[in-house]
Amino acid sequence: MKTSRHDLVILGGGPAGYVAAIRAAQLGMKVACIDEQDRFGGTCVRVGCIPSKALLESSHLYAEAKHRFGEHGLKVSGLEVDLPAMMARKQKIVDTLTGGIDMLFKHRGVTPVLGRGKLRDVETVEVTQGDDTFLVQGDQLLLCPGSRPASLPMVEEDGDRIGNSTTALSFPDVPKRLVVIGGGYIGLELGSVWNRLGSEVIVLEALDRILPGMDSELATIAHRTFKKQGIEFRTSTFVESAKRDGDRCVVAVKGSDPIECDRVLLATGRTPMTADLGLEAVGIEPDRRGFLSVDEDFRTSVKSIYAAGDCIGGLMLAHKAMEEGVVCVERMAGISAHMNYDVIPAIIYTHPEIASVGKTEDQLKEAGVEYRKGICPFGANGRARTLGEPDGRVKVLADKQTDRILGVHIIGVRAGDMIAEAAVAMEFGATSEDVARSCHAHPTLAEALHEAALAVDGRAIHTT
Ligand code: NAI
Repeated sequence: MKTSRHDLVILGGGPAGYVAAIRAAQLGMKVACIDEQDRFGGTCVRVGCIPSKALLESSHLYAEAKHRFGEHGLKVSGLEVDLPAMMARKQKIVDTLTGGIDMLFKHRGVTPVLGRGKLRDVETVEVTQGDDTFLVQGDQLLLCPGSRPASLPMVEEDGDRIGNSTTALSFPDVPKRLVVIGGGYIGLELGSVWNRLGSEVIVLEALDRILPGMDSELATIAHRTFKKQGIEFRTSTFVESAKRDGDRCVVAVKGSDPIECDRVLLATGRTPMTADLGLEAVGIEPDRRGFLSVDEDFRTSVKSIYAAGDCIGGLMLAHKAMEEGVVCVERMAGISAHMNYDVIPAIIYTHPEIASVGKTEDQLKEAGVEYRKGICPFGANGRARTLGEPDGRVKVLADKQTDRILGVHIIGVRAGDMIAEAAVAMEFGATSEDVARSCHAHPTLAEALHEAALAVDGRAIHTT
């Protein structure tokens, strides 16, 4: 059988895999990267972060033009949604970025392999490409198979009327009524897209709050804000089943009437794709939920096999996976890199955006850590006012004794860009005083972080 040999073979070309491939090639390794889809980039680039952000931007502009241009003295007539054009723009962005990965692989000398890979032994992956089968061998193997949307047994997904995030990125028309199961990241982002484009959106959440895991104060503000935008939330609502009936869907919920709608989006989390990797051939056993365990080198129980990204658990975020890919191959090359899981920012790209890094207030209270808190509402920020975006706030949490920043939580316009400053500060072990003493340009949204840092010590200038 045709066989090729490499220093490192990476199984999966998503954020963990393709980034690890490029970094390993930079470090002088001969690398092959295998992906079963027709393009590299994984969920993030093809059917996740990138296409969803493209639709969030398009639908946001539509909502602004429809509801908010008047404030600026701008009159619009004949505004319409051209859904095929919006989808084509989204696809063009995806194609450009996946093409960019091909170009980067070529530039760095990474061997791309498009085909279905399965472990055969501790240094061999068997790849099936149509009718062709061949072997790709490496001194080391890195598993980055990613994750897929979780399904629920009683929700009859057909990939059309009842589907997951991939389905909801390509609806052929704007649903009249869309039921979203799950009030997490995907439910809120894709729920927002279709709500802005004109759907009646109902979010069903099993817990008594949306965005579990997020700072609860921010989640409460988010709930109120999205409700004002027209999204209906039913919390403490447990979905019993969802079935298609012709062109309609019926969602049964515990303790109340069934809900009829045109489409259902199931967004109740993601599950690792470790089932079909051939792990049994090498003696690696995933845990009960399918996750692989690794040590600080990202090594599995087999010496030559490593794993990174969604398949090893923790936050299922593209940037966490990218960092893990880099740290893993750098450690293989003898560089003493490490992951700091305490400083991984998380962002929800709704409007306003919600961004967070470090510990939440709830976590600090639970752990009995004494902290001081500084808040700056965006209403007190000049730049936010000029943008017409006075809603939301920045919250800085700092250790009561040392003043070291423990967490920063932001809800407001462009919060996702602002959180980077907080993450860098925390990575450097900054105190709130360090941020408060750093000169911030005026007028910028970043001044709200500055003010919140001042507020930790009760010396905010622009708030009372
Ligand atoms: P999630 O974990 O964020 O939210 C799932 C929600 O569904 C939870 O609130 C949960 O309580 C609820 N739920 C579970 N079972 C339910 C049931 N039977 N009935 C009603 N509600 C139920 O998962 P989501 O939104 O599917 O996102 C998946 C992953 O993708 C997340 O881990 C997230 O990190 C990642 N992601 C990140 C984005 C970003 O960084 N902006 C955007 C989209 C996804």
